[in-house]
Amino acid sequence: MKTYMRNIALACCAAAFCTVSCSGPSGGRDADAGKKADELLARMTLREKIGQMNQVSGGYGLMDMAAKGEVGSILNCVDPVEINAVQKAAVEQSRLGIPLLVSRDVIHGFRTIFPIPLGQAATFDPAIVERGARVAAVEASASGIRWTFSPMLDVARDPRWGRVAEGSGEDPYLASLMGEAMVRGYQGDSLCSRSSIAACIKHFAGYGAAEGGRDYNSTMISERSLRNTYLPPFKACADAGAATLMTSFNEIDGVPSTGNRWLLKDILRDEWGWEGMVVTDWNSAGEMIAHGFSRDLEHSAEQALNAGVDMDMMSFGFISHMEKLVAEGRVSEDDIDRAVRNILKLKFELGLFDSPYVDVEASAAADYAPEHLEAAYQCALESAVLLKNEGSVLPLDNAGTVLVTGPLADAPYEQMGTWAFDGQKEHVVTPLAALRSRYDVIWEPGLEYSRDTDKSSFARVRAAAAKADAAIVFVGEEAILSGEAHSLSDLCMQGSQSELLRAVHESGKPVVAVVMAGRPLTIERDLENCDAMLYAFHPGTMGGPALADLISGKASPSGKLPMTMLRHAGQAPFYYNHNNTGRPCNGTETLLADIPVGAGQTSLGCTSYYLDTGYGPLFPFGYGLSYASFSYGKPELESFSLERDGILRASVRLENTGDMTATEVVQLYVQDIVGSVVRPVKELRRFERVTLAPGESRAVGFELPVSELAFWNAEMEHVVEPGDFRLWIAGDSASGEPVLFTVR
Ligand code: BGC
Repeated sequence: MKTYMRNIALACCAAAFCTVSCSGPSGGRDADAGKKADELLARMTLREKIGQMNQVSGGYGLMDMAAKGEVGSILNCVDPVEINAVQKAAVEQSRLGIPLLVSRDVIHGFRTIFPIPLGQAATFDPAIVERGARVAAVEASASGIRWTFSPMLDVARDPRWGRVAEGSGEDPYLASLMGEAMVRGYQGDSLCSRSSIAACIKHFAGYGAAEGGRDYNSTMISERSLRNTYLPPFKACADAGAATLMTSFNEIDGVPSTGNRWLLKDILRDEWGWEGMVVTDWNSAGEMIAHGFSRDLEHSAEQALNAGVDMDMMSFGFISHMEKLVAEGRVSEDDIDRAVRNILKLKFELGLFDSPYVDVEASAAADYAPEHLEAAYQCALESAVLLKNEGSVLPLDNAGTVLVTGPLADAPYEQMGTWAFDGQKEHVVTPLAALRSRYDVIWEPGLEYSRDTDKSSFARVRAAAAKADAAIVFVGEEAILSGEAHSLSDLCMQGSQSELLRAVHESGKPVVAVVMAGRPLTIERDLENCDAMLYAFHPGTMGGPALADLISGKASPSGKLPMTMLRHAGQAPFYYNHNNTGRPCNGTETLLADIPVGAGQTSLGCTSYYLDTGYGPLFPFGYGLSYASFSYGKPELESFSLERDGILRASVRLENTGDMTATEVVQLYVQDIVGSVVRPVKELRRFERVTLAPGESRAVGFELPVSELAFWNAEMEHVVEPGDFRLWIAGDSASGEPVLFTVR
């Protein structure tokens, strides 16, 4: 009987469901996927439907579950042979032969590892980010993975939060553009191409606002700031066609996202009309019990489904309790059908019914292809931010002998950063290896790893520095210090790294510090102990050659900070696009050392700053130097008075006043001066990478539809309010002279 049913199922599959045409009007999707999903759905038992809604990790008895149709998607299986075996169980043994959706966290590359997403954001180059995601898709899909949990779109304004590494930093516009680029790269021209993988925009929503920067913590976000700041990247990527979305671990104002019907239904479905598939984060349904929102797993499954979740990642609440919940009328079969339809539709769109298996022979052929390494190199090259270059010590084009030191100079695993599960450190080219082909290198690690406090080899480092023309010190964070669950309250260099830098600096030789880290660290004191500093984040597989080329002057740095750099962790959260206080800092603040003993209560003036660190950041958002220098003219506007449906056209003359060809990221910011609710002091609205030869100048033009100046106002309507605006075009968020324009 079972064999008979199976044959029927296979025949049905072949006849009714397996013809994929990707050329429908839906942007490379199988236009009939919804219809096919409905037809299949009509033939499923309740138990089979619930099985599709269950996502299970490798190591949890997958074969048996797949054969019984009790799992719809698997994660964390990357061996193509194993993937095929589980897939075979699902396709050949389960009654309907529905293929599994194979998923994995491919966050910044699969084998070829690109810079961490925060580093990618520093490129301000959506094209290279899209290329990176395409490379990841090609490599991952060749191993049988057709769904990644990326991009992470959480706007993050607190560098204590370890997951700042995984996103694009503090700005919603930058996060939107980087996210859209990744969605395009992963999903390719058509989702059903075998080299496309479905994107998953995460974590919906507000996860980046964890109180105190401590991972998983509660967030207190008003509806207005959620809509103005945290949701726009999700909306942009939903509109860009992201196939799936993941709910977040956190609660907002008391409601965990996985049980938040307002977020998942009212906003995502009803307001945005998004039709993709919603998955929970790992056990985030079950964790609603610890939150104190669900009584038990059964209750959490009820709440998650009713809120709008389609697939349960690893709580097992759906598979264990959903039949009972239906029987008791606590969830409706209509909601289950909605969820299963979304899941099946995606499987049809991906062409899984036609080609469920991975070609094991060919699976590794895509890994580390030369063009993949080239793209990773280019991305690493563009992501490094030059923070200091006193006396133009960089590029080191005249040095013969250089001391290379520091725990990150030859740390291939650390260089890949967080969430690089499938990157292989054997393929990483470290800066030490790359620099050896350019200089006569003296290598003294100084410290074994970033938290190392053993200074016993510092004497050797000092002696080596004395013999070298210059020293390059690679410091920062090991990969484990950032990423999920890895928050820090102190953002200074770990271990004895600052002392190492000081020891090298005392040699009197030119010192270049290169920081590889998962977050913006507080490096003020380290800046004093180097002549130049390159901030490289964790640059990935090709970080070594990219950094060596920047150091030796083959290319000029062009990265810009995607997050404000703080003087002290106590300033967090601190971000450039904040609202103003009624008593903004006016530059006359008195710091601790200057406060007279017995000073009168109000004698310091009453403005908004810290007595110890002052007001400003160490470096503002958008900041980054170059080996060239750029001069900006005054921004010119085509019109100073615009209608609400008009288009703002602005331009600026940019000149390379240096003596090297280099790229500048030209940034356009706008402030809505008076609103029905307070508006940020500045917001990034456009940017462009511009490459100029020495002495070359160019007018850089931008178009900005006035409609993009809309915000959620006092009435919680998304509108452009007429009034006056300031506009800046500059090389970072703290520079430039504003020009005024008016919207009527
Ligand atoms: C993370 C997600 C990730 C998931 C699956 C969770 O712990 O928060 O970002 O995609 O695990 O590995």
